[in-house]
Amino acid sequence: MTMPETDPMPEANNPDRQRLEALRSQLHTLAHQYYVLDAPTVPDAEYDRLFRELQAIEATHPDWLTPDSPTQRVGGKPLDQFASVRHAVPMLSIRTETDTESSGAQAFDTRVRKELELTDADAPVEYVAELKFDGLAINLRYENGVLVQAATRGDGENGEDVTQNIRTVGQIPLKLATIGFPPVLEVRGEVYMRRDDFEALNERQRARIAAGEKGEKTFVNPRNAAAGAVRQLDPGIAAQRPLSFFAYGVGEVAPQTVGSLFATHMELLQTLKGWGFPVAEEIRVVRGADELVAFHQHIAQTRDQLPFDIDGVVYKVNSLPLQQRLGFVTREPRWAVAHKFPAQEQMTTVVAIDVQVGRTGKLTPVAKLAPVFVGGVTVTNATLHNEDEARRKDVRVGDTVIVRRAGDVIPEVVGVVPPAADQPPRERSAIFTMPRICPVCGSVAVREEGEADYRCTGGLFCNAQCKQAILHFAQRRAVEIEGLGDKLVEQLVDAKIIRTLPDLYRLGFTALAGLDRMAEKSAQNIVDALEKSKQTTLPRFLFGLGIRHVGEATAKELARHFGGLDAIMDASEEALLQVNDVGPIVAKSLRTFFEQAHNREVVEQLRACGIRWEEGAASADSPKPLAGMTFVLTGTLPTLGRDDAKDLIEAAGGKVSGSVSKKTSYVVAGTEAGSKLTKAQELGVAVLDEAALLEMLK
Ligand code: IVH
Repeated sequence: MTMPETDPMPEANNPDRQRLEALRSQLHTLAHQYYVLDAPTVPDAEYDRLFRELQAIEATHPDWLTPDSPTQRVGGKPLDQFASVRHAVPMLSIRTETDTESSGAQAFDTRVRKELELTDADAPVEYVAELKFDGLAINLRYENGVLVQAATRGDGENGEDVTQNIRTVGQIPLKLATIGFPPVLEVRGEVYMRRDDFEALNERQRARIAAGEKGEKTFVNPRNAAAGAVRQLDPGIAAQRPLSFFAYGVGEVAPQTVGSLFATHMELLQTLKGWGFPVAEEIRVVRGADELVAFHQHIAQTRDQLPFDIDGVVYKVNSLPLQQRLGFVTREPRWAVAHKFPAQEQMTTVVAIDVQVGRTGKLTPVAKLAPVFVGGVTVTNATLHNEDEARRKDVRVGDTVIVRRAGDVIPEVVGVVPPAADQPPRERSAIFTMPRICPVCGSVAVREEGEADYRCTGGLFCNAQCKQAILHFAQRRAVEIEGLGDKLVEQLVDAKIIRTLPDLYRLGFTALAGLDRMAEKSAQNIVDALEKSKQTTLPRFLFGLGIRHVGEATAKELARHFGGLDAIMDASEEALLQVNDVGPIVAKSLRTFFEQAHNREVVEQLRACGIRWEEGAASADSPKPLAGMTFVLTGTLPTLGRDDAKDLIEAAGGKVSGSVSKKTSYVVAGTEAGSKLTKAQELGVAVLDEAALLEMLK
């Protein structure tokens, strides 16, 4: 056999080919972790980056494309445990516009116009702009108006039968209460978990873990918690996981066709709403690229105020006939695109783990990070919450981690990214252990039974606690000492000029003006602010003392119930338990606080310094017509502001909550009432207007 003179590079040695194989294997693993195990190990943005890199290689070498490439399928395989469901109409994915800048919308509009052969002379295309919910896609099948099956997307062709679990989702109708729906109707949408529901769930999970229940864990984010609940084999457990749903489309519709029932996508959504399905309010019909861009920008600015997570927006051509004309490329419709937002999760490395001391002495492990831009800011610190969390996540110096920053929430370490299989193991420090002495003052740190946190026992001896106790007292929501910020408090405490709250009021102009970098004018301003803060209210003063578990609302209740501070200081646990919202933990905390002579001393000294407030009569016996009732306020009331209405309800013994549930007694609705009103109607909660509320208060 003769060898050819010039041997072309064997494919296996081609670096592009090697990279392609490595990417495929990595993406398969990541997709499995994400879709099947509900346990992603890298942020979505990282997955997207690898995915695009693979797409680019495949685009330059079309002959290497195989049907089993991760780019050629929609998601992961169904779990074995659930019955498999073949979708009557495949559940497609949507193309993602990778450019997070507004030009992504422009690119989509340009493609649509080109495909429809429109010229500049033609009118702008009409689109529906929606939110891209960060949950789990679900197909709900109704036969003659009865929910007969719910299935996950799975790989797009075959999903999992999760009917039992989906039946536990209150927002999903089991039977359609209207008329006019087709005999076979598949509704598609997203199952998700609201952020407040997610926080409450994790709170319960932490309590379970603390109580020693086996196999319990907290969830990384609402998406994971929702996915975990939907794929929970025990529907009893699924029922305890609060899920929500938004409809955004349909699957099989028979015997009529979708096109014969609706002319536009918006009409379809409105009809679904009419049939009893939750449809998000933030949906707009817009025209042309500019209005898509405006929608994208508006949602990007307001996304943190939504009660649930989204990871972008979705644009869809509104006209159904035009959708049909546009059709599909491989498995993605040409008439829809997802336009993402900059990620709220990123990867970075841990350079150190410090321990910070909070106002109540709580020790918090904090990861010091290589600076990373996430959620719109550069982050260098992220909380690890407590020792158990730090150890459970096994975060160590040298690790690559996922950091999450959403809205104004403190950035946190979500988890460690294991090194890829072809990478050498990383240098890692020893596993984190909480120091048993306070890193600031050297006092013993203890962890009480049933508590997750270690606390420094130094009290006001501890500079860290001392500084924060003073800042807490001085804040706007407490007695408000304008201009007394953390830099100044740090200076005063470190120089041993102040130690306790009363010391603040003994600060004279001379002491202040003598500080480094303190102008006379500023010193005088602080003196004036201190004087002004002396006239306060009992709830502000009580909250300012920083008693554990006594927040603003509890302080208000205590003041209202007892009328004066002495009565609160001397109240027994039983007497404290009579107060609205005060349970055994709060009652005990108050008793412990006021039993300590030095705390009473602080109160006496503050009074001696001239702090004063008006005391009222104990209101324990005043009528409480709304006792035991929970209200939710929504929309704009004709005369009462939100806070006024809240104060009135609370004064009458009622509670005000932010979200509607079966436990809500009344929803008070004004003009432009939104989803809370809809939810009240869905749950059959009584709705009042302002006049009716005032009537009840009489
Ligand atoms: S429409 C053919 N609309 O995004 C179009 N999808 O790849 C089908 N998603 O996991 C999808 N919000 O669950 C559509 N308003 C929305 C959506 C949405 C979230 C999810 C969907 C799927 C992925 C699409």
